[in-house]
Amino acid sequence: MLVVEEVTAIIVFWGHFMNHAKTLVESYFGVHHGELEIGGVPVGSIVREYGTPLYAYDSSVLEKKWSALRAALPKRFAIFYSMKANPNQAIVRFFLNRGCGIEIASGGELHQALHAGCPPEQIVFAGPGKTPAELHQALSAGIEEIHVESLVEAQRISTISRQLGRTARVAVRVNPRQEVQGGAMRMGGKPAPFGIDEEQLDPVLEYIFSESHLQFTGIHLYIGTQILQHSILIQQYRAGLEIACRISQQFQQKVRTVDFGGGYGIPYFASEQPLDVAALGAGLASLMEEYGNHSALCDTRFIVEPGRFLVGEAGIYIMQITDIKVSRGKKYLIVDGGMHHHLAASGNLGQVIRRNYPIALLNRIDAEPQETVNVVGPLCTPLDLLASDVALPSANVGDYIGIFQSGAYARTASPHGFLSHPTPPEVWVEQQRASLVRKRGGHDGWLQDQCPLGDLGVQ
Ligand SMILES: Cc1ncc(COP(=O)(O)O)c(C=O)c1O
Repeated sequence: MLVVEEVTAIIVFWGHFMNHAKTLVESYFGVHHGELEIGGVPVGSIVREYGTPLYAYDSSVLEKKWSALRAALPKRFAIFYSMKANPNQAIVRFFLNRGCGIEIASGGELHQALHAGCPPEQIVFAGPGKTPAELHQALSAGIEEIHVESLVEAQRISTISRQLGRTARVAVRVNPRQEVQGGAMRMGGKPAPFGIDEEQLDPVLEYIFSESHLQFTGIHLYIGTQILQHSILIQQYRAGLEIACRISQQFQQKVRTVDFGGGYGIPYFASEQPLDVAALGAGLASLMEEYGNHSALCDTRFIVEPGRFLVGEAGIYIMQITDIKVSRGKKYLIVDGGMHHHLAASGNLGQVIRRNYPIALLNRIDAEPQETVNVVGPLCTPLDLLASDVALPSANVGDYIGIFQSGAYARTASPHGFLSHPTPPEVWVEQQRASLVRKRGGHDGWLQDQCPLGDLGVQ
């Protein structure tokens, strides 16, 4: 049995989750007659039009995040949207229209960036294990810069460039000596398949400088993700600037670009504070005063590649309750979406300790919590848990449940094939109008990819 203190602690804990969803509603969304509004459109009208489960993206949230970051960063900093966070064409175009570049990490992302209308000179390509075919595709398209992750990759790029009769612009992706403390995934300072260890850079640089089909452009820092403390970022950026100055001095070369990578976090849990973008901007301005006129860096373009920060808060995953069960005293709300569409919310995408994403009953968003429930999806696995022991208003079959902070690494980082449910559509809300920006993948769709049944010997 639970003692009184434990019960109190649990209620406080629940309260935090509810407050976090409420904070997000107050910061970014609206409420009308008790119902959530996304970009001024009631959630009920979105789901009546497009069905559930679905992802909805509010362009006004993207605008807020973009403007806050753009205003805070020094002018010499270019922003390249990291499209792995959410490759939807509407989102990629939104950022392109604001003068943003795109960071890609595969041939598929290159294709999608070009399809969205991104000029090749606004594309940079990072990621380990780029295949010869992907490099060929990127070099033929004439993208701005490839971030080299190993000596083998540098050699591969040189060979393909020679075959194409081109010169490839390459930056080295550095895994710094110094570890970042405080990101969700600690990166830098430890063994990693990403980038080249700082202490192993020299042979790769010597090779690049010796090859006529390679043009050295600069460095790309490999730092981490979900970093909420600006001081950690500044600390790593300083280390990156030191590395750039050292390379420049040692090889007597100018550094055209310093790409600080992504990693800006968003608060998923009530205990987390948002990244202080203004303080980050002020820290970068001081770094620029200190390093910006250094002979190695006076003509350098500085790049950041945020993904999660720009899109994470704009997305809500919306599901409908299909059944409600009580099993041995525990209440389960069974919804029509689950971990196959949103692996991160189920806690199975790199969370060490499973915690609930901010969640709410969207058609009664301002009702007080009345009961403690688990929200589960339709997959036949206990992993398909979207919220555990969460306090929600009393719910009915047919009500809508929403998971906030679902714009980044949500739909795109989920195992859609598991149990062959249709894939969720994506809805874009702009100027109080909702429109479909990705169709639901149909039940029949999967059959088209299969061998004809006759080939399997089935009559
Ligand atoms: C090379 C590179 N750039 C940018 C990002 C985006 O990171 P985030 O979404 O944390 O900003 C990543 C994430 O893995 C990355 O690998």
